[in-house]
Amino acid sequence: MTATQAIDRIEAAAHPRPQDRRLHAHGANYDAKFVPSGQIGHLTNARHLTEETALVVRLSNGSPQYDSDDRTRGIRGMAVKFLADGKGIHDLVAANFRVFPSSTPEGFIELVEALAGSTEDTLKAKLTTGRKFASFLIDHKESHAGIKAFLSRKAPASYATTRFDGLHAFIFVNDAGERRAFRYRLVPQLGEVDLDSAYGASLDKQFLNAELERRLQAGPVSFTLAVQLAEPGDATHDPSIAWPEHRQLLPAGEIRIIGLSPESDAWERQVYDPMRLAPGVEASDDTVLAFRPHAYSVSAERRLG
Ligand code: HEM
Repeated sequence: MTATQAIDRIEAAAHPRPQDRRLHAHGANYDAKFVPSGQIGHLTNARHLTEETALVVRLSNGSPQYDSDDRTRGIRGMAVKFLADGKGIHDLVAANFRVFPSSTPEGFIELVEALAGSTEDTLKAKLTTGRKFASFLIDHKESHAGIKAFLSRKAPASYATTRFDGLHAFIFVNDAGERRAFRYRLVPQLGEVDLDSAYGASLDKQFLNAELERRLQAGPVSFTLAVQLAEPGDATHDPSIAWPEHRQLLPAGEIRIIGLSPESDAWERQVYDPMRLAPGVEASDDTVLAFRPHAYSVSAERRLG
């Protein structure tokens, strides 16, 4: 499957608006800054991770539909762009999965097709009796853990109380040229809170960005950028295989979201690319990671006309 075919298939299954991202269509961009913890300098010579750095952060609903329902269980995304002189030098692109539900791009697109257009009620039906989903599960044993973990969660109550994981392995490189594989996660300092469904019924369909903006009027909202370090033998090539939870986890620093960016509309036109990496961080041998920038480029070419 090529990246063009992947985007064709998302479009055929979900009919996103031409001007929107083919996934994560609805979102907004926030000004933020990175405050380093001082605890990863021995692992990487990436200056932007060891010095205070300006950021822009996009928080989004993962649906290809711009009018997606935030009260429904589903994917939410957090993308972070480290800036130097106002330009992106390194992006983190994470979602509220704990482990990716597929070991291949094709498997992921099949899942998007099987679940396209679901509401909370139709999602239940698709998961229990849907033929496409049933045949996906038969063909993709590697997806069971990721899907099970995901389905045990309700919709998040707030972007400020959602954990987002980067899922792929990356490689830190330090001044001595030593290499260490890691995965990152963005952990909300307020803790994780799911949406109570009775309360959710009283909320606007698209409450998440507005709710965050109300919180930001009272002060910044922070996430810890935490890195999970691999031990020899941990799989780096496959985002559907979780590493043991007891692997060492280090705080790289704090991502402090300050307010809606006055340039949010301009940032909306940009791409947050999980392979935009600065010196000190390299890509692993993960083939899903290698595929993503091509799909994001096709999506961007189409949405920007
Ligand atoms: C083969 C696998 C994947 C494909 C084909 C895919 C496809 C896409 C596409 C087409 C977009 C819209 C890009 C744009 O127009 O700028 C997107 C956005 C996004 N994806 Fe993926 N994706 C994949 C894997 C993942 C994974 C593993 C994660 C999380 C770790 C993820 C999280 C996100 C997020 C957060 C966004 C929104 C970025 C933004 O705010 O601009 N995706 N994806």
